[in-house]
Amino acid sequence: MSDTRKPIVVVGSITMDLVTRTPRIPAIGQTLIGTAFETTPGGKGANQAVAAARLGYRVAMIAKVGDDAFGPQLIENLQCAGVDTSAMAQTVGSSGLAPMFVADDGQNAIVVVPGANGKMDRAMVDSHASLIRSAGIVLCQLEIPPGTLSYTLDLCAKANVPVLLDPAPAATLPDAVWSQVEWFTPNETEAAFYVGDGASMEETARRLHAKGLRGVVLKRGGDGAFVSVAGGRAEWVRPFKVQAIDTVAAGDCFNGAFAVAIEEGKDPWQAARFANAASALSVTRKGAQASMPWRSEVDEFLAQNC
Ligand code: RIB
Repeated sequence: MSDTRKPIVVVGSITMDLVTRTPRIPAIGQTLIGTAFETTPGGKGANQAVAAARLGYRVAMIAKVGDDAFGPQLIENLQCAGVDTSAMAQTVGSSGLAPMFVADDGQNAIVVVPGANGKMDRAMVDSHASLIRSAGIVLCQLEIPPGTLSYTLDLCAKANVPVLLDPAPAATLPDAVWSQVEWFTPNETEAAFYVGDGASMEETARRLHAKGLRGVVLKRGGDGAFVSVAGGRAEWVRPFKVQAIDTVAAGDCFNGAFAVAIEEGKDPWQAARFANAASALSVTRKGAQASMPWRSEVDEFLAQNC
């Protein structure tokens, strides 16, 4: 039977993560002996696409890879998760790369080198405008050029397609963005960038709503999420306690899962609970896309932790 649901469309980044595992994140000027090195598919956009696809939703990704050895591997990994890659393109030069340290306590430090992600342009968005218009929701992040992001958001606004924006890595946004985004999902550091340090959850959400945002989801990792809808409820959604070994892409897992749950008709607090469960499972596994749980795993986890 064909899937008639409107797809989740990701317009964003895809990156090969170059992961060095180390006892701790090195200090400036320090040399440490690492424990392992691996290349593993990542990129905030692709991670979110894989998260949503593994949870059983129809997902298409619009992104660029390079003409290096990583490009085909990155596309194949999306396909293995069930992501529609017909809107992916290959461009001259390097794919996006993300050298990173992952410490034994699960914490990480990442540098993103955009490569092909930096070549995501308006022409790419124009080429896939009908796919974007057909989406149930569009997922974006801040790892493609800001002009391309704005162009995508304009298109979504004109077509009445809701957008879930992960404002990561944090960067200054044009004013138009605030009214064009349905869901805004900063982590703690990103929220501080947009509203200033030291604000409570309620105050952070209030300041973000004051900019024009409707739905605010403040991701707090092991502390859960605070979900606030303008003029409506604002409540914590509790976390699931697990032993984290690798937190890379946990926020991406949350976003992919949140989008799936919203598309399935859950209210935002139920959706955040589902997303908390998915991201709790993801931090118990190594890697970015490799750590994304399948639907049966999340359903089982929720049944065992109700
Ligand atoms: O959010 C995690 C991701 O950030 C990594 O996979 C890395 O590629 C960077 O984009």
